[in-house]
Amino acid sequence: DNKSLTIAIDGPASSGKSTVAKRIAADLGLIYVDTGAMYRTLTFEALKNNVNIKDQKALVDLLEKTEITFEPDEKGQSVFSNGVDVTYGIRDNNVTNTVSVVAAHPKVRQLMVKRQQDMAQDNGVVMDGRDIGTVVLPDADLKIFLVASVKERAERRHKENKEKGIFSDLDQLKKDIAERDYKDSTRDSSPLKQAEDAVRIDTTKMTIDEVVDTIKNLIKKA
Ligand code: CDP
Ligand code: CDP
Repeated sequence: DNKSLTIAIDGPASSGKSTVAKRIAADLGLIYVDTGAMYRTLTFEALKNNVNIKDQKALVDLLEKTEITFEPDEKGQSVFSNGVDVTYGIRDNNVTNTVSVVAAHPKVRQLMVKRQQDMAQDNGVVMDGRDIGTVVLPDADLKIFLVASVKERAERRHKENKEKGIFSDLDQLKKDIAERDYKDSTRDSSPLKQAEDAVRIDTTKMTIDEVVDTIKNLIKKA
């Protein structure tokens, strides 16, 4: 029965996690939990309220006052912060380039992980992030680790921006992605790391459909 399945999808920025996770969740009738959006929402609120992103205690206080919820819709899913739609705001460059600092605080992570585990308590979920297979859902039915070259990932973001009418510089994108990879994989508190029992898929030369099919076949076997 699919309804109680838990699927963990981790990997670096722009490896295709959210695109693929959304598709699989929709196809199998599972809830999609975008944990990156939760760290982005806290970062968005910190920037908006002039909270110092290096001040762990201030961030924890802010997070305790911030309810983060997801609602499915035509576009896939929208994100709300205390009921306010922040779906677009949290993708802003200011957020993207500071979120790794916010996400490195152990006490911030502790609270986030607790919320994420609660969401998977009574529901089948496809959850994507950095530490899902290692920390949040160590007993997931299936763990996937998506990777792709920095060049390919920067090109994907570039194309995505172009389609949205947003200007971006490809070389700068490469630098930003490499920088975020570095910060996410070298932090002390649950760094980005492949779980031992995760299946690694290199998507550099794969289409979205191919990645989705590969994972669906693994689900059938799991
Ligand atoms: O979509 P993109 O790959 O740009 O990133 P995201 O999944 O929205 O995550 C944004 C940032 O949140 C990451 O670069 C990490 O610093 C942090 N994050 C994390 O630390 N742990 C997670 N489970 C998910 C995201
Ligand atoms: O969630 P994450 O940051 O890992 O990546 P994403 O936002 O799902 O994917 C980044 C971009 O790459 C999107 O525009 C996807 O359509 C695209 N993509 C792709 O071109 N080929 C793939 N195999 C996976 C994603």
